[in-house]
Amino acid sequence: MKELSVNHLLGIKYITEDDIQLIFETADHFKEVINRPIKKVPSLRDITIANLFFENSTRTRLSFELAEKRLSADVINFSAASSSVKKGETLIDTVNNILSMKVDMVVMRHPNPGAGVFLSKHVKASIVNAGDGAHEHPTQALLDCYSIRERLGDVAGKKVVIVGDILHSRVALSNIFALQKLGAKVKVCGPKTLIPKYIDKLGVEVEGDLRKALNWCDVANMLRVQNERMEISYFPTTREYTQQYGVNKALLDSLEKEIVLMHPGPINRGVEITSDVADSKQAIILEQVQNGVAVRMAVIYLLASKIQHHED
Ligand code: CP
Repeated sequence: MKELSVNHLLGIKYITEDDIQLIFETADHFKEVINRPIKKVPSLRDITIANLFFENSTRTRLSFELAEKRLSADVINFSAASSSVKKGETLIDTVNNILSMKVDMVVMRHPNPGAGVFLSKHVKASIVNAGDGAHEHPTQALLDCYSIRERLGDVAGKKVVIVGDILHSRVALSNIFALQKLGAKVKVCGPKTLIPKYIDKLGVEVEGDLRKALNWCDVANMLRVQNERMEISYFPTTREYTQQYGVNKALLDSLEKEIVLMHPGPINRGVEITSDVADSKQAIILEQVQNGVAVRMAVIYLLASKIQHHED
């Protein structure tokens, strides 16, 4: 049986193209499973997973929980807001207490970049990064690339532009790594103040003009402006940001070809994308969410099979 080259999913940076293709092939199988009347398989009846969320989430938290339950794993959920973290308990103490209850895998979202890597060095469990600060959000990039593959047949050779707040976006970084590993061409587009200085070191071109970027690409991934990560103003006003970097129906209809639009959510309707565009046939935003469950089932299943093999 093929297996992943890693024991944790800490970032796309740490996995290979073969790992990604294996995750996609496994997700194809689980996508078929979750479209059956009985959407569950007994694969992980002997695995217990803790979902630790130190930061807000709707899609990722629910998607992981559903993926785990559809694999028949036992699931416990932890939210920092209602936990003893508020009383000063450290991350390692928190996780070790949870692991002493015989937990095999930890899915963690944390505001600090590198929190997953840190945890993987200090605790005995398989760690899945569900977003660590502005660093990586690997399962989002996997489901994004899986959705491109589903809509356009392949990721290799496709042109993808990531638009908006690249500086504060873990989705952007993970997407850049995943798209490049799969052979896509990547550009970013946004205000200069929201493009990181190291972007050229990633082999990514910057296009300042949104119309040019959209006319170049096959797929545009529209990012939210992450106001919660900004301590200063990066652009004059939201209205001016939208005028320069927002996609509306008139702009979309005036392009030289039909493109696919993606958004990781949550959407700020009327800022980075208008409602009629978000709800149009060209947008695959809800397909991305739906594919997230199959992709996360694949990640958890493949990591759990490594735990099971080590125990044999
Ligand atoms: N895309 C994403 O990570 O959404 P949530 O913050 O709702 O999990």
